[in-house]
Amino acid sequence: MSSLVWIELDADSPDHNLDELRRCNDFKGLHCAVVKSNAYGHGIMEMLPLLGNADWLAVNSLDEGIELRAAGEKRPVLLLGHVPLDRIREARQADLRFIVCNFETLQAIRELPPSEKKVLLHIKVETGTWRQGVLPEDAVAMASEIAGMHGATLDGIYTHFANIEDTLSHQYAEMQLEVFQGVLEDLKQEGLTPPVIHTACTAAAILFSKTHFSMIRTGIGLYGLWPSRETRLSAESSGCRIPELKPVLSWKTRIVQIKEVPAGSYIGYGGTHRTTRNSRIAVLPVGYADGYGRSLGNTGWVLVSGNRAPVLGRVCMNLCMVDITDVPGTHLEDEVILLGRSGNEEITAELLGQWMGTINYEVVTGISSLLPRLLVKGG
Ligand SMILES: Cc1ncc(COP(=O)(O)O)c(C=O)c1O
Repeated sequence: MSSLVWIELDADSPDHNLDELRRCNDFKGLHCAVVKSNAYGHGIMEMLPLLGNADWLAVNSLDEGIELRAAGEKRPVLLLGHVPLDRIREARQADLRFIVCNFETLQAIRELPPSEKKVLLHIKVETGTWRQGVLPEDAVAMASEIAGMHGATLDGIYTHFANIEDTLSHQYAEMQLEVFQGVLEDLKQEGLTPPVIHTACTAAAILFSKTHFSMIRTGIGLYGLWPSRETRLSAESSGCRIPELKPVLSWKTRIVQIKEVPAGSYIGYGGTHRTTRNSRIAVLPVGYADGYGRSLGNTGWVLVSGNRAPVLGRVCMNLCMVDITDVPGTHLEDEVILLGRSGNEEITAELLGQWMGTINYEVVTGISSLLPRLLVKGG
């Protein structure tokens, strides 16, 4: 059965990328694959079997964690987002580890009905990102409180870097690491050493082995994408091993109508493009509801038979139009590449991001979960 818009996942790339990230600094500890937000838009259920090299998985919400367990996932799963106080029992029931940065969470755990299962907690330390996290000066009190609880175990401690991928200067990350190490030292003094210590996202995993501790927690890299140009430049200039990351995802569609349009015609809503010649226009069944951003109107390009074709006029909710005047021999239902390779041309997530005024993370995460995901071997 043919689809009109679909995602192809290169089945071998995720494990290859996990392996490459691990090999950057010859890391021997645990590797946690960050698969939140529908595996960065790639499709969580389709990605799971492709992540054999991941020891742990991380998602954002309790519901995502429960979905993983319902799918039969047995590996440790860490919830990176807040678990509602009245749903902690569900997290315990599903053996989901989760972060703690509020003392109210500990109180809610104390009020749970007794169970043989313990709640496995990872303290998130605020080191300078100023989003979730317990203040460094409160971390020891929190860890001591957990150590004294029957229903909970301190399974881990972690932090997250604010400015490690978007810069060539890593003083801020160094400062955050210092704060985190200070907390670890304070905990040690109290005889509290959480078994799993983790700070490294993809950029940190590639650039700084001192951020690795016992587990790295990588997202964007496992999908074969670099966190940023700055990360790549930092890696190249630091002389560290450059991971060979292979993009996992291609995004494709088919032409649903071809029409001859006279010179001087206004294309699409608002008439924002006026043809300057007699043109051949292909209509594509993809729009901003699919994650193909409205900002791509009159800005983006697609690939038709290995040629770039520009997006004309505004991108609609479910349709957009491209100029194929310079791509002869194009037919109804021919394949069009929105993201990926065709012949010698490639549209990367980074390029789409530039055209959309955003970053590769948002491009892939924004792809609709309703589109079918197909696995391709040896792509
Ligand atoms: C807490 C946390 N850890 C790890 C990651 C993974 O980061 P990256 O995709 O840059 O590897 C994220 C991503 O947003 C995150 O929020």
